Amino acid sequence: MQVLWSAELIQKYSVNGPRYTSYPTALSLQPDFPSSAVQAALANSASELCLYLHIPFCQQLCYYCGCNKIVTRHSEKADVYLQSLAREMALYQPLLSDKTISQLHLGGGTPTFLTQDQLSRLMQLLRQHFVFKADAELSIEIDPRSCSLEKLAHLRQLGFSRVSFGVQDFDEQVQITINRVQSEELVQALVLEARRLGFSSINLDLVYGLPYQRPERFLQTLQSVLQLDPDRVSLFSYAHMPTRFAAQRKIPTQSLPQAEDKLALLQLAIKEFSEAGYQCIGMDHFAKTTDSLAIAQQQGKLQRNFQGYTTAGQDALIGLGVSSISQVNGVIWQNQKELQDYQQQLSAGQLPLERGFSLSQDDKIRAALISQLICHFELDIPAFCQRFAIQDFWRYFADALPKLDPLISDSLVVCSDTLIQVTPLGRLLVRLVCASFDRYLHQANSLSYSKVV
Ligand SMILES: C[S@@+](CC[C@H](N)C(=O)[O-])C[C@H]1O[C@@H](n2cnc3c(N)ncnc32)[C@H](O)[C@@H]1O
Ligand code: SF4
Repeated sequence: MQVLWSAELIQKYSVNGPRYTSYPTALSLQPDFPSSAVQAALANSASELCLYLHIPFCQQLCYYCGCNKIVTRHSEKADVYLQSLAREMALYQPLLSDKTISQLHLGGGTPTFLTQDQLSRLMQLLRQHFVFKADAELSIEIDPRSCSLEKLAHLRQLGFSRVSFGVQDFDEQVQITINRVQSEELVQALVLEARRLGFSSINLDLVYGLPYQRPERFLQTLQSVLQLDPDRVSLFSYAHMPTRFAAQRKIPTQSLPQAEDKLALLQLAIKEFSEAGYQCIGMDHFAKTTDSLAIAQQQGKLQRNFQGYTTAGQDALIGLGVSSISQVNGVIWQNQKELQDYQQQLSAGQLPLERGFSLSQDDKIRAALISQLICHFELDIPAFCQRFAIQDFWRYFADALPKLDPLISDSLVVCSDTLIQVTPLGRLLVRLVCASFDRYLHQANSLSYSKVV
């Protein structure tokens, strides 16, 4: 997947916008969402589903972090949390009795905050309540500082085959400023051991735009990462939203790279990963061409869900745990975001729903279009019209045309009667092309989103 670089255009279009891990985005979810809607969605859903499970705890606060997390050193808090998860699983069990689970992803916060015993108990609960496919894919996010080699071996024994390690940057000054000091040796030892243990896929998370990151030194981090030979790399743009995440105020503003420097970091990463033979997946992922994400993209089967790019079905994800989001059969729902509310609702025997949304037929059409563009950068208009019984495509999407016009003039996208094609120049800005088809965007406050690049 070729990506062409134009600093001028990227700066021109440097605005805030959704990442389209769903359409409509989570901002459109409505309160007082009835559990009957969840039951109905599951009754008619596909027979194979994916599970996401959120473990919110972290031992230490990283100042840049924008995730839903609770910082604590008390590992017994996780015992209470496991009890709530067991209650939630019991509520879903009768709704999922005729379904099988094809993928499980543990995310956070920090899933490896759990002790080995707690991890065993969690897997026991999951297998007790749900039917896993024999070849189900189990993956987990790992903070290297909270995972001994022994815990890694334990995860392998529990059936996990895919791991993702949070690296962010190896530079010492960057690490000190973001309050996340972890040595290169620590990550290297874990990666080597993961490979020895037979984990089939190793992902490393990096962030560009962090304090004191500058191209010369970031190049060293990139080279160290390449030496570790990961199967995938996630390269996130640092979302600096200090009004929303108080800890980000601890990062001195003058230490952050200016817009131009931040872009240079991204450009450098794209160059290094491409030259090393990695395929650019969408906007923020790189994968070896033999990796399942890259293969899915080559075969036109790549999807996007709340975890980002995925090989799993987009409309068949159950999220368990505080703040998790589910999407099944055209219905999206989110769990309570505060731990206390989540636990209270479960103690009262209710699904811990906070908000939700049932997609209309128009939402489903736009969701399919946005997903296609963000994963594959082109849309075959006649095939799309046939799939959704649309007579005249550009008449149906007349509202998108004025928003597409400047993007067409700047050669970021080419539109005809038969094809929409995001050009190599437009690929890093694909979120803007998608936003042209978003019926809800004008209602939302753009400051709720991070910068598109
Ligand atoms: C839940 S964490 C991964 C697991 C574990 N907690 C860790 O940090 O190693 C998810 C990832 O989100 C990314 N991330 C967190 N805050 C971010 C922010 N403000 N902007 C961009 N990426 C961010 C980091 O790359 C982080 O590794
Ligand atoms: S980046 Fe990971 S470890 Fe750090 S605070 Fe966020 S979720 Fe926790």
